[in-house]
Amino acid sequence: MKITVFGAGYVGLVTAACLAEMGNGVVCVDVDKDRIALLNAGGVPIHEPGLDGLLQRNVAAGRLEFTTDAAAAVAHATLVFIAVGTPPAEDGSADLAHVLAAATTVGRHMRDYKVVVDKSTVPVGTADRVHAAIAHELKARGTPLPYAVVSNPEFLKEGAAIDDFMRPDRIVLGCDDEQAGLLLRAVYAPFVRNRDRLLIMDVRSAELTKYAANAMLATRISFMNELALLAEALGADIEQVRHGIGSDPRIGTHFLYAGCGWGGSCFPKDVRALLRTGAEAGQPLSLLQSVLRINQRQRALLSDRVEARFGSDLRGHVFALWGLAFKPGTDDLREAPSLTVVDALLERGAQVVAFDPVAMPKAAALWRGREGFTLADTPLDAVRGASALLLLTEWREFRSPDFDALKAALREPVLFDGRNLWDPAQMRELGFEYHGIGRGA
Ligand code: NAD
Ligand code: UGA
Repeated sequence: MKITVFGAGYVGLVTAACLAEMGNGVVCVDVDKDRIALLNAGGVPIHEPGLDGLLQRNVAAGRLEFTTDAAAAVAHATLVFIAVGTPPAEDGSADLAHVLAAATTVGRHMRDYKVVVDKSTVPVGTADRVHAAIAHELKARGTPLPYAVVSNPEFLKEGAAIDDFMRPDRIVLGCDDEQAGLLLRAVYAPFVRNRDRLLIMDVRSAELTKYAANAMLATRISFMNELALLAEALGADIEQVRHGIGSDPRIGTHFLYAGCGWGGSCFPKDVRALLRTGAEAGQPLSLLQSVLRINQRQRALLSDRVEARFGSDLRGHVFALWGLAFKPGTDDLREAPSLTVVDALLERGAQVVAFDPVAMPKAAALWRGREGFTLADTPLDAVRGASALLLLTEWREFRSPDFDALKAALREPVLFDGRNLWDPAQMRELGFEYHGIGRGA
């Protein structure tokens, strides 16, 4: 089948590559000329395990093309996915400018029946707006043409995106058009051997499902983060509590890890957008309000603890940071807890030396010229002479470092483990002053 994908970002590229891998002829269009030039030169604009090879293979096989030519991209296929960004607007709502621009482009260039698929995360009612944007263009051109708009939210995780797309837990299709439904079932058939995983529902429910999923996951983490603080106050260990509750299948083991807060390009913006939707609908979501507030506090927890330990004037102190990305497996720094921690430490006069296995180029661009902030070449280089080490991202390579070398390199053997990666008893035995999240008194 021929398919067009608007957007060559995380979701657009993964969608395009995976659909091409299944034998479809995919054209991926983006307004960012540099990004398309890079892709056409064989480069990959994002770090996503496995994506590089998948892109190469499908481009070489002639199944995948990148372009900025929107007219040609629209002409290419009946099925048009919109996977452009929906960044937060100032009031917290999702900014739909890119989605509506893509819809307008489709309306402007279409010459026959199209099925337009909203894959971007968009608030309830967006499919209607996409429908209206296309209708507006068709009316302006005086060419009434048939089309359908379908909601197909994406649930992939950065760092595991290819696997998530290839082997989805479920595919949600908000669809009330029979012909469009048949096309999409055919496209997704190779991805869902178990047909129960293809969930077809009404458009509004599909749109809400996406926000509900992210908000539920964020809620679980914030709950555990708040409970971790209680565990500390009571001398209990949140990791043991996690095991204790996670073994109940009604609760499940996922997304129960306490830490220095959730970040990324999705949870924070989607939680805010859902809060906004609730307020606008006259149904304020007070639980979710707390979920967000708890996370804001949690992201400042490590720097607050540094202050509690070393005082509010941190001049003369160097702090080492391991991990800058919002989670392992990605170079994405959007809304990463590291942003809050770096700012707070620098504001209090400290120097920060950081290392991240893959986010260094993005970090260099982000903090370039920021006084007091430097990047180290190796994890050990980062800790030399530091008053403490703060671990913010649980990359595998940080799991079992040479602790003796680490201790020798630090000025003081103080560890702030923001991801509960290390065993408190072992760390204390090795002579470290260990501060985890919710790890007993
Ligand atoms: P991104 O910022 O990585 O990429 C968006 C791309 O869209 C950019 O390359 C941009 O140039 C392009 N674009 C903007 N306007 C365009 C237009 N009119 N025509 C063509 N291209 C255009 O964004 P992303 O992370 O891929 O997210 C896309 C959507 O998917 C968002 O709504 C996001 O919430 C959702 N989502 C993201 C993830 C994730 O892990 N990143 C997972 C699930 C859902
Ligand atoms: C999240 C969802 O997991 C995806 O299903 C969804 O498609 C995506 O958002 C989206 O809508 O874009 P992602 O942002 O890539 O995916 O990352 P997650 O693995 O969900 O982690 C988000 C944050 O929560 C990270 O900062 C991570 O460190 C934190 N986290 C996660 C915890 O603090 N504890 C946990 O137990 C799990």
